[in-house]
Amino acid sequence: MSQHKTNLSLKKYNTFGLEVYAQNVVFLSQWQELADIENRDNCLILGGGSNVLFTQDLEQTVIINQTKGIYTVAEDQDHVELAIASGENWHQLVLWCIHRGYGGLENMSLIPGSVGAAPMQNIGAYGAEIKDVLTYVEAIDLVSMNEVRFTNEECKFGYRESIFKKQAKGKYFISSIGIKLTKRNHQLNTSYGDIENHLKEQNITAPTLADVSNAVIAIRQSKLPDPAILGNSGSFFKNPIIATTHLAKLKIDFPEIKSYPLNEHQAKVPAGWLIESLGWKGKQIGNTGSHAKQALVLVNYGNAKGQEVYNLAKEIQKSVQNTYAIHLEMEVNVV
Ligand code: EPU
Repeated sequence: MSQHKTNLSLKKYNTFGLEVYAQNVVFLSQWQELADIENRDNCLILGGGSNVLFTQDLEQTVIINQTKGIYTVAEDQDHVELAIASGENWHQLVLWCIHRGYGGLENMSLIPGSVGAAPMQNIGAYGAEIKDVLTYVEAIDLVSMNEVRFTNEECKFGYRESIFKKQAKGKYFISSIGIKLTKRNHQLNTSYGDIENHLKEQNITAPTLADVSNAVIAIRQSKLPDPAILGNSGSFFKNPIIATTHLAKLKIDFPEIKSYPLNEHQAKVPAGWLIESLGWKGKQIGNTGSHAKQALVLVNYGNAKGQEVYNLAKEIQKSVQNTYAIHLEMEVNVV
């Protein structure tokens, strides 16, 4: 049975820890309960609240997804296929899989948020993205209540992108996802970032899934603030992709600029570098600021208002635009 509350603070339900009030909140324990919600195609659906910036109180109904269940649907000696309810916590799922020796999610350890939100923005970290293991997304059409299955290809995944942020935006409730993981001959990816160094420091030469996961957890904890202590939504902006011709021009004035080639014509520039280079890193403005250890993360020092964080984000965007002629796109959904 779904539970209803009125005039509820959402502070506990967003990792930024922003205090806004929702007139109507429905806690959903099974997707079928959606049928009882009026105007459900006009509701705000909240998973872990880890990618949202609330700037105002909400008049529309907020649905807090608490659906649960991890099911094994197929298995052979090499692979296992799982179906997972969208309200499950992402990191708990990762740990559940590692505990059973299922490989594929370890590089995505400790990403805050829910399973249902993961395909929306194609979550990724340390060289892995959910699109690499996802077999399908099951979604409920919010108008007709029909179940629709999107194959991996139909999800149109890109860098922090999917059809659910574009053409299908607001039309569906993601009810479950399917993933396919390895049971042996795991394809460990330790080449990204500091994972290799971290394993070396621990004298680990033949890492297990748990070793890789622990390395990722340690690296994340060393840079990213724990939302339970300092409110935040992870990377606030996407890393911008620019033309190599643009990059070549920038290198004349800013020879130290960092970039990663994507193809012949495009390169990714770390937004964290751009923001740090303009002096924002570690700067506190009122109740908000750019994190001292990772400039791309905006934080709530206590009683920040969403609007304050938004204003800071706009200022950062402006300064990056003025100096580098690069537009920083927000990764976080502003509500
Ligand atoms: N950098 C700086 N200063 C900073 C931060 C970063 O100069 O303050 C530069 C450094 O050159 C560093 C590079 O940026 O080598 C990359 O930094 P980092 O490895 O910390 O990763 P990121 O590009 O800032 C992305 C994802 C993260 C993900 C990490 C690791 C995006 C928007 N963010 O961050 O995802 O955990 O890579 O794979 O793509 C998230 O999406 O919320 C998130 C945390």
